[in-house]
Amino acid sequence: MKQTILIVDDEINSLRVLSATLRKERFNVETARTGEEAISRFKNNHVDLIISDYRLPGIDGETLLEEVKAKNPNMPVILMTAYGTIERAVDAMKKGAYTYLTKPVNLDIMISMVRDALQKREWALESKDDIPGRYQFLNIIGKSPAIQEVFSMIQRVSKTDAAVLILGESGTGKELVARALHYTSLRANSPFIPIDCTTIPPELMESELFGYEKGAFTCAYDNKVGLIEMSEGGTIFFDEIGDLDFALQKKLLRFLQEKEIHRLGGKKKIKVDVRILAATNRNIEEAVEKGEFRADLYYRLNVITIHMPPLRERKEDIPIIASHFLELFSRKNKKNIPGFDSKVTDILINYDWPGNVRELENVIERAVILCPYEQITVDCLPRKLRLVAEENQFESDGFNLVEMEKRVVLKALEKTSWNQSRAAALLGISRKQLRTRMKNLELLPG
Ligand SMILES: Nc1ncnc2c1ncn2[C@@H]1O[C@H](COP(=O)(O)OP(=O)(O)OP(=O)(O)O)[C@@H](O)[C@H]1O
Ligand SMILES: [Mg+2]
Repeated sequence: MKQTILIVDDEINSLRVLSATLRKERFNVETARTGEEAISRFKNNHVDLIISDYRLPGIDGETLLEEVKAKNPNMPVILMTAYGTIERAVDAMKKGAYTYLTKPVNLDIMISMVRDALQKREWALESKDDIPGRYQFLNIIGKSPAIQEVFSMIQRVSKTDAAVLILGESGTGKELVARALHYTSLRANSPFIPIDCTTIPPELMESELFGYEKGAFTCAYDNKVGLIEMSEGGTIFFDEIGDLDFALQKKLLRFLQEKEIHRLGGKKKIKVDVRILAATNRNIEEAVEKGEFRADLYYRLNVITIHMPPLRERKEDIPIIASHFLELFSRKNKKNIPGFDSKVTDILINYDWPGNVRELENVIERAVILCPYEQITVDCLPRKLRLVAEENQFESDGFNLVEMEKRVVLKALEKTSWNQSRAAALLGISRKQLRTRMKNLELLPG
């Protein structure tokens, strides 16, 4: 089911841009131009999250926040403010706003905050489904000793402010762990800001992180609050830290040591209280040895290490994670698929998952969409996985020529719906030769 977001802003252009962005992300969007209109919409319609401008004609964003929280304390409210009203927005967070966005709104950050807020509400509301509690920690599922160790590690370190470095191949759940660390910490009510060091170009990174003052460079028409400052009180997650530009590594280190920043072109030092998490799928120790990554920064970031093992090294997690995705995607696609064919389970366990949990997630989603049956069968799996199954069968049959011949002949017959002429053509033999073989292989009566 799509979730509904109510956007409240008196500026029609801003309403348009925000609605279009969120609709593209597959949310339902409702809009209101005043606080009064928002309250009536909120009372009469289903709403999952509210984004409201701080300054509104009539009742303002803060009063709207109070009214909403009085009726529904779980409703996430995100406030938008122009630069001059940031102090008030911070006050509003104390009254229960989920977070605030500075205008002009950075759309990627808005989407990420909306997702986090909704996720957090779901965790608060949802009683967990049929996976036993000890096999699930927030959104992370797993029964293998390695994942159980990750759960206990998260619990032990989340209440501290220690920097955590999360290592592991692509798709092993590093970001999931970072979010779990934030949402079980004392900072959970403040923002979680993920920064992907591979997608922000190095020349923009510095101003994105630290912000700038009006006039700092030619196009700095106004002050800009950077991402570090925006995460005040919360957690900042440097994803793919191994790709952070070398010059910036030094600037980040300085911030970690001094806990204060100054915006580009600004003189004032600004204290920021933020916890740092980082992740990478690169071999960062090697990068340090080669001089590509600063050793001093590495030690700062690596107070605690959490290592996410690849899925192929914790095969006992595959069936429960697969079932979890089956249920999730069945619900999303309004299908009722209770389980997997046992052959499918075997294939899922035997495959070595180079793309880890993300690949498993994609395979199950695809299977749910394609599968016309009550069960996920081998035909609904991608070719790559089916080939693995055939190879495994080959291994288990050994090199028995008769068995091999029987399998190939049967396969040709099945493919042609037991049309002997066509099967023979497929096998490159005559129909007569095929019949002789079928007789020998006891595939024909008599
Ligand atoms: N143990 C798990 N249980 C349930 N879902 C998981 C688990 N691990 C990963 N996922 C899911 O797999 C996908 C990939 O996870 P995530 O983005 O955290 O991986 P990552 O290690 O950050 O990958 P990359 O290095 O490619 O960024 C996500 O959709 C996540 O929800
Ligand atoms: Mg990631």
